[in-house]
Amino acid sequence: MRFGSLTLSSNLFLSPLAGYTNLPFRLVVRELGGVGLCTTDLVNARSLLEKREKAFKLIETRAEDTPLAVQLFGSVPEEMRDAAVFVASTGVASIDINMGCPVRKVVNVGGGSAMMTELGKTAALVKGMVDAVKIPITAKMRLGWDDQNLTAPDLARALEDVGVAAIFVHGRTRQQGFSGTINLAGIRAVVQAVKTIPVIGNGDIITPQAAKKMFDETGCAGVSIGRGAFYDPWIFRRTLQYLNSGESVSPEPPFAERIRVMSRHLDLMVEVFGEELGCRMFRKVAPWYTKRFGPVAEFNRNVVRISTRQEFHDVLTSYLRWREQFLDENGELMQKFQPAPLVASFMLEPDVANRQHIPVPKGPVEVW
Ligand SMILES: Cc1cc2nc3c(=O)[nH]c(=O)nc-3n(C[C@H](O)[C@H](O)[C@H](O)COP(=O)(O)O)c2cc1C
Repeated sequence: MRFGSLTLSSNLFLSPLAGYTNLPFRLVVRELGGVGLCTTDLVNARSLLEKREKAFKLIETRAEDTPLAVQLFGSVPEEMRDAAVFVASTGVASIDINMGCPVRKVVNVGGGSAMMTELGKTAALVKGMVDAVKIPITAKMRLGWDDQNLTAPDLARALEDVGVAAIFVHGRTRQQGFSGTINLAGIRAVVQAVKTIPVIGNGDIITPQAAKKMFDETGCAGVSIGRGAFYDPWIFRRTLQYLNSGESVSPEPPFAERIRVMSRHLDLMVEVFGEELGCRMFRKVAPWYTKRFGPVAEFNRNVVRISTRQEFHDVLTSYLRWREQFLDENGELMQKFQPAPLVASFMLEPDVANRQHIPVPKGPVEVW
């Protein structure tokens, strides 16, 4: 997989997830293999230029954390350009621009020629960044404001014309938030709109089969996975294996491996953020791992109180004892307690898909 001057080891990407795609999570995902490029949380361009500690923490990285894209957010062209120059000087592989939904104003004033003005403004901002740095600039967008305003194909084309190296597209509209299913035809329209740059499809990929369907039905050059990597940080490796071998999908990792990786994740959180903050931050991370554990009320109740690594291990030990009641004579979770198989929204009948949602943590959906 290539974009711009960059060659990646796979066409599978970790999506930016504000509050989660920090250095520890990226390292966890990389250690498990299969991912071609990881991205930071979105970073406010102005905060970076003002040298705010929080913004610097978001771009903290290390040698094992490559290749890395930093996602920038902002609407002032000079600030976005200067932030891009600064980020490029740190040695990252590429810069992604968060486009949330770039045509909000346009939709409010009724579209038409105003829409082209807004596209022109966005393209000019992006061109300023492209011209200022040597590394690839990519853009991440939704399909548009709503089903009547699917502007992503036009925007993608305009951005390609000013030198953007790749487009990431979440197959939902701004109005949808995180509800409804992924619109594969909408992603395909973006793929067809650009001339040569890769389009990377995104949304609801929680299994290797779903990744394959995204490739097959949209013609996208890569797929980007967000929440699916919470459930299954192994998803990149499993997907790559499935796509390359054409054989059946390898099973989800066993419980012991999930525990190992969850504990490793906590250790990295402590390394990067210090023990107390790392543990506090981990309170909202651990429940994602446990979604595939079977019965887990005991653990979830207690893990939200941890402040030290020792407390985490105490909670874990006590949970493992409690969990024994759900195991058979071989130490495996009894069938009736096993979590249902994961199925992506766009692999289900529409009425079922609308009832089964991947949980969405709280946050500013307007920029996601
Ligand atoms: C908690 C959370 C944080 C997110 N943060 C960002 C972000 O910082 N930048 C961005 O472009 N998208 C963000 N997104 C959107 C994701 O990158 C992705 O487009 C979306 O979740 C759909 O993909 P998924 O179904 O694989 O998660 C976020 C989504 C979630 C759930």
